[in-house]
Amino acid sequence: MFRNVLCLALGLIVGVQLTELWDYMTLTGEEYESTAIAADTAASLTRPSLADWLFHETRVLCLVLTMPAHHKTKAAKVRSTWGSRCNKLIFMSSEDDDALGAVNLNVSESRDNLYSKVRAGFAYAYEHYVEDYDWFLKADDDTYVIMENLRMFLYPFDPEAAVFFGHRFRTSYPHGYMSGGAGYVLSRDALRRLNLFALNNTKFCPLNTYSEDRQIGYCLLNVGVTAGDSRDEHGRERFLPLHPRHLMPSIQNGTWLTTYSYFTPNMSDCCSETAISFHYTKMHDYDRYEFFLYHLRALGLPEKPTVLPTKLTYEQMEQKLDFWNQQETDQTVPLS
Ligand SMILES: *[C@@H]1O[C@H](CO)[C@@H](O)[C@H](O)[C@H]1NC(C)=O
Ligand SMILES: *[C@@H]1O[C@H](CO)[C@@H](O)[C@H](O)[C@H]1NC(C)=O
Ligand SMILES: *[C@@H]1O[C@H](CO)[C@@H](O)[C@H](O)[C@H]1NC(C)=O
Ligand SMILES: *[C@@H]1O[C@H](CO)[C@@H](O)[C@H](O)[C@H]1NC(C)=O
Repeated sequence: MFRNVLCLALGLIVGVQLTELWDYMTLTGEEYESTAIAADTAASLTRPSLADWLFHETRVLCLVLTMPAHHKTKAAKVRSTWGSRCNKLIFMSSEDDDALGAVNLNVSESRDNLYSKVRAGFAYAYEHYVEDYDWFLKADDDTYVIMENLRMFLYPFDPEAAVFFGHRFRTSYPHGYMSGGAGYVLSRDALRRLNLFALNNTKFCPLNTYSEDRQIGYCLLNVGVTAGDSRDEHGRERFLPLHPRHLMPSIQNGTWLTTYSYFTPNMSDCCSETAISFHYTKMHDYDRYEFFLYHLRALGLPEKPTVLPTKLTYEQMEQKLDFWNQQETDQTVPLS
């Protein structure tokens, strides 16, 4: 008798908590913000973090380029660190590995085939998941991504707009492309356009053995996908195609980064405080990033509240796309 009452009471408590959790998960952005203001101490105990809430709001499928020789090393590290924060994690490989989440894309391993493999990866993501996620991130197995910052950056933008973001490089075609090593992210409509109108068209999207990032960028721009600007309000990059040790204390002038970047990097202050990614991650780096980002705390600092950016209206999104389409490189030195 007593046990039944206890179970009933516990059931009620759990039920109420779950209901609250569900209510939070289904809030709109403005509602989430207003509960933050209204939340008293008791409510904030059950209130999920903004990062948890964004996880459901801005859904990202991660496609990570790897190969069988890396399944147990770099790919395993990606999976146990940042990859675990993707809404869905798929490794593009040439061998299936269910435990890892690797898919054999039937492209034989060779440097020359990376572009074919990424094409096959985007085709796979489109065929199986295009309606299930909002954004589609392509990263390498030595990219490290801060998924919370990626979601916060993407949140204002409509995934039904044709746009992609990353670290923008100059090249022989005018709009440039996004660095593959820093990772780049396609909106749902960009993925759709790539698959419906580019991958089946050798004029828009030729098959060759050039680098995947430059070629995918070319295909995307040919089907009307805008190259977005992901820098912060001080012109500092969020997607970084280098390891921090090559960016700090300052970027070296005259390196390939300064030559190829579409926008001249901020030489003294390379990186946004809301940076999204770094490249050239070594085996020992993954856990260091985890420690510095998710465990270590500098005590006693004034707290900086995280403010959710406002979602753009349809008209505001159109204006952004127009603005980005007209943004020209600020570099004057011609590419050789
Ligand atoms: C790869 O080829 C196998 C055998 O033909 C097929 O079963 C599988 O679906 C293919 N995988 C992809 C991702 O196309
Ligand atoms: C590619 O597919 C789309 C959609 O099915 C079609 O409209 C288009 O004509 C195709 N392009 C080529 C070159 O076959
Ligand atoms: C970097 O090098 C370029 C080309 O040599 C030069 O024009 C530019 O002023 C340099 N920038 C800085 C910040 O030193
Ligand atoms: C570099 O970033 C700092 C902010 O840290 C800003 O004050 C400065 O104006 C930026 N420099 C350029 C060239 O954008």
